[in-house]
Amino acid sequence: MFKTIEWTDEGVVMLDQRLLPEQETYLTLRSPEQVADAIRDMAIRGAPAIGVAAAMGIALGFRREGGGPGDERRGRFEALAHLMAATRPTAVNLSWAVERMRLCFEAHRNDPFPRLQAALKDEAVAVQTQDIEANRAMGRHGAALLPKACRILTHCNAGALATAGYGTALGVVRAAAEDGKRVAVYACETRPFLQGARLTAWELQRDGIPVTVLTDGMAGHLFQKREIDLCVVGADRIARNGDTANKIGTYQVAVLAQAHGVPFYVAAPISTLDPSAASGAAIPIEERSPHEVTTIGGRRIVPEGVPVIHPAFDVTPHRLIAAIITERGVARPPYTRSLAALRGAPSASRRPRKPVREARPARG
Ligand code: MRU
Repeated sequence: MFKTIEWTDEGVVMLDQRLLPEQETYLTLRSPEQVADAIRDMAIRGAPAIGVAAAMGIALGFRREGGGPGDERRGRFEALAHLMAATRPTAVNLSWAVERMRLCFEAHRNDPFPRLQAALKDEAVAVQTQDIEANRAMGRHGAALLPKACRILTHCNAGALATAGYGTALGVVRAAAEDGKRVAVYACETRPFLQGARLTAWELQRDGIPVTVLTDGMAGHLFQKREIDLCVVGADRIARNGDTANKIGTYQVAVLAQAHGVPFYVAAPISTLDPSAASGAAIPIEERSPHEVTTIGGRRIVPEGVPVIHPAFDVTPHRLIAAIITERGVARPPYTRSLAALRGAPSASRRPRKPVREARPARG
């Protein structure tokens, strides 16, 4: 099994996702600046995975520097926190991980330097291992919602590559397959970065889970032909009311799902919830370079001088979402109440494995 990201004595090692599926190449990053570049350039991507990378980038920043007095250490921490937080704006897991590292820093900033270094490294590795645990719990909760045999449409890559391992939306698919359910996945290609075609197809094929790729514009046709039983996608940020930001193109899949009476599920860890955002209107949407749209494989596909837009995410309104699957259970509408209940619930590792918990308020 591949490792999306790993802390080693050499530095932070990550699979370069820009080169998949043709090349399986690992990068060894020895400075926080290199980690920030890798996040920005999408060598690593996916909300939970970039959270882990940011945490490891901060720990890496204290490997050789930051051993001075308290004020100097704090200055170093703030510079690293800013470096990581400024890489990509939409996935809240990134700033969540930075804030987790801040708490760790504050608790240990006056310790002897080796102890501070060890605490930051341990915290970053804990962000990673807890993400895998959360994904497995999410998988169990989500798999219980799936029929014995189903065809699942997903958009982008919310798999092992997008997380510390196992995946969120693809974690649900994996858990269902492990339960003996007959699952088949339709993966939207996901223009322009092609996360569906390059990454989702790659990791599911390696697991022996049936996967078929379609271009984004083919989704409506498949719904019309009754080829889709349900949709599961990941998330980059979920507002208090359940509005969900995910990869550009997710919203149109959700509209199609509603038009055809197909359930549309979101799978995401609690760290993807943003209690400070009342609705999707408060979620910042990353604009990426038009160059990623105007060229494919180095070849220009749009005439010079024609304007191009490139919002990297869109927001799916909560009314289109049948349920939000988290490691603490399944939230149903109205999300303002059910998500708040899950946020207040104890963490997955402290909960019994069964039964599956549904956070469904008594009345809507
Ligand atoms: O631009 P990306 O590839 O980082 O976007 C990733 C997504 O939109 C994923 O669906 C989301 O981060 C969830 S990953 C578990």
